[in-house]
Amino acid sequence: MAMKKQRSFSFKPTRFLVFHFVIWSSVIFVILFIIWVIKASPSVPQETNLQFNKSSLVPITVQTLTGFSGNSSVTVVNSSIWIDTHVRQPENASGFGGISVTSGLQRQNNESKVPEDKETEGGDFKGRWVYDESYPLYTNSSCPFIDEGFNCQGNGRSDQNYIKWRWQPQDCEIPRFNATRMLELIRGKRLVFVGDSINRNQWESMLCMLFGAINDPKRVYETHGRRITKKKGNYSFKFVDHKCTVEFYATHFLVLERNARLGRKQKQILRIDAIDRSSSRWKAADILVFNTAHWWSHDKTKAGINYYEEEGQLLPRLDVSTAFRKAMTTWALWVDRHINPSKTQVFFRSSAPSHFSGGKWNSGGHCREATQPLQRTSITNVPEMNIIVEEVIKQMKTPVTILNITSLSGYRIDGHPSIYGKIPLQGKQYSSSIQDCSHWCLPGVPDSWNEILYAHLQSKRC
Ligand SMILES: *[C@@H]1O[C@H](CO)[C@@H](O)[C@H](O)[C@H]1NC(C)=O
Ligand SMILES: *[C@@H]1O[C@H](CO)[C@@H](O)[C@H](O)[C@H]1NC(C)=O
Ligand SMILES: *[C@@H]1O[C@H](CO)[C@@H](O)[C@H](O)[C@H]1NC(C)=O
Ligand SMILES: *[C@@H]1O[C@H](CO)[C@@H](O)[C@H](O)[C@H]1NC(C)=O
Ligand SMILES: *[C@@H]1O[C@H](CO)[C@@H](O)[C@H](O)[C@H]1NC(C)=O
Ligand SMILES: *[C@@H]1O[C@H](CO)[C@@H](O)[C@H](O)[C@H]1NC(C)=O
Ligand SMILES: *[C@@H]1O[C@H](CO)[C@@H](O)[C@H](O)[C@H]1NC(C)=O
Ligand SMILES: *[C@@H]1O[C@H](CO)[C@@H](O)[C@H](O)[C@H]1NC(C)=O
Ligand SMILES: *[C@@H]1O[C@H](CO)[C@@H](O)[C@H](O)[C@H]1NC(C)=O
Repeated sequence: MAMKKQRSFSFKPTRFLVFHFVIWSSVIFVILFIIWVIKASPSVPQETNLQFNKSSLVPITVQTLTGFSGNSSVTVVNSSIWIDTHVRQPENASGFGGISVTSGLQRQNNESKVPEDKETEGGDFKGRWVYDESYPLYTNSSCPFIDEGFNCQGNGRSDQNYIKWRWQPQDCEIPRFNATRMLELIRGKRLVFVGDSINRNQWESMLCMLFGAINDPKRVYETHGRRITKKKGNYSFKFVDHKCTVEFYATHFLVLERNARLGRKQKQILRIDAIDRSSSRWKAADILVFNTAHWWSHDKTKAGINYYEEEGQLLPRLDVSTAFRKAMTTWALWVDRHINPSKTQVFFRSSAPSHFSGGKWNSGGHCREATQPLQRTSITNVPEMNIIVEEVIKQMKTPVTILNITSLSGYRIDGHPSIYGKIPLQGKQYSSSIQDCSHWCLPGVPDSWNEILYAHLQSKRC
């Protein structure tokens, strides 16, 4: 036995030659391939893949978006609705793994097409951005719902190309948004967005798009007319003639944030085994669009130390991915228990990418220079959060449609408010050094997400 074994490892000239041939031909192939890749893509921006760094703590800032300032002609209850939602800027990268930051912005010659990227596709609607003069679907002046933080034109952004792109899937058409038709689709129904400030971005986009079909502003009104705060987010706009409402509920995590007593101190904690309190309000919706992503980061969850509560226990330490998976499972169980799939359609919007170049959000990271989409999406790997969401949804008995916008939005470095979002710091002072490369200008990229939602509501697939 020992002899045999030894012999099988013994030197044999032919085997040696074959071995060398294989190794060297592989090496030559790899070199040729690298040369080919470099030659084939000279204009591709240099991309750095930032891994989510668990050991780094980042300071938290609170910014306040105050919207609907000035006269809002759509309100019946009160002529000035104001919103007091606290939005924390996603830190450094956008809070979860696999985000790539483009360190050099390439200028694209003014062609009407961004080349298709074969490796990264937009899920069921994979395709490319197409420059289309017939967009946008509304303007800053025609829509009274745009928050100051998203009203780029109103805040002085002068380049206009970024509002003229539409997403063109390669295998089908996304029908152009028809507000009249959409209002017919949701007649007598409640369309409800639930999630963080990026979902609020999308909700405002939807309001603006629908408003185009309403001639008389008095035919739309805010149903509560109350001041709204971060935790008690509760917005409902009613389109009177269609007896439908388009609502938004602010909940950063979908699960329950609450104050707890820790020794003598009051502390915010997150119950990952209980759904957010506002869930009683979403239950009866006809169309639900959920999201949560940017807040699930190490720094915004107190590094997971004494932050998560499960089964009445405050967990001393839990990593953010595990916590996110548990919270998504809580959400999934809630949906399966409370949603009647024959009445309610459920959507989950995948995470939206940030685009900070040359630094972090608080260290000079910027996106202001970008007036054109990238030639490739900045999303090089499916973010871990999207994978978790997909895995959890697969286990559910309620059908949930994923609005897969991560990759397609990854091209749109030009779509962020940058310095035109007027991010308020303390008090009324605006920061000129901090750019918002996380949220999106309106009109802009979220309009495309809503066109995809509109396509899904009409059962359009590719
Ligand atoms: C993570 O952050 C820590 C502290 O900021 C730093 O020392 C470490 O080098 C970082 N690791 C990576 C991989 O960036
Ligand atoms: C707001 O409405 C009042 C009364 O309707 C009007 O006098 C005022 O000019 C309006 N302000 C703006 C900024 O439109
Ligand atoms: C409208 O809101 C303002 C403060 O925002 C308040 O002073 C006023 O009483 C409200 N009017 C009505 C009719 O509710
Ligand atoms: C890009 O092309 C469009 C349509 O051809 C044109 O209207 C626009 O002015 C051009 N933009 C720039 C920056 O050249
Ligand atoms: C979403 O799109 C990305 C990029 O095309 C793809 O990798 C991923 O599988 C898609 N996810 C779903 C759920 O369709
Ligand atoms: C809309 O944007 C234009 C500049 O493009 C600006 O002059 C105008 O004041 C804005 N209107 C509103 C309501 O923000
Ligand atoms: C929008 O939809 C309505 C109702 O379905 C239809 O009458 C109208 O022609 C459509 N408009 C366009 C521009 O397609
Ligand atoms: C939201 O509004 C409804 C209707 O006015 C009210 O019953 C509910 O308590 C509100 N929820 C929150 C969290 O403010
Ligand atoms: C995020 O930015 C801050 C401030 O520039 C820095 O101290 C920290 O190390 C950064 N974190 C990561 C993960 O790069």
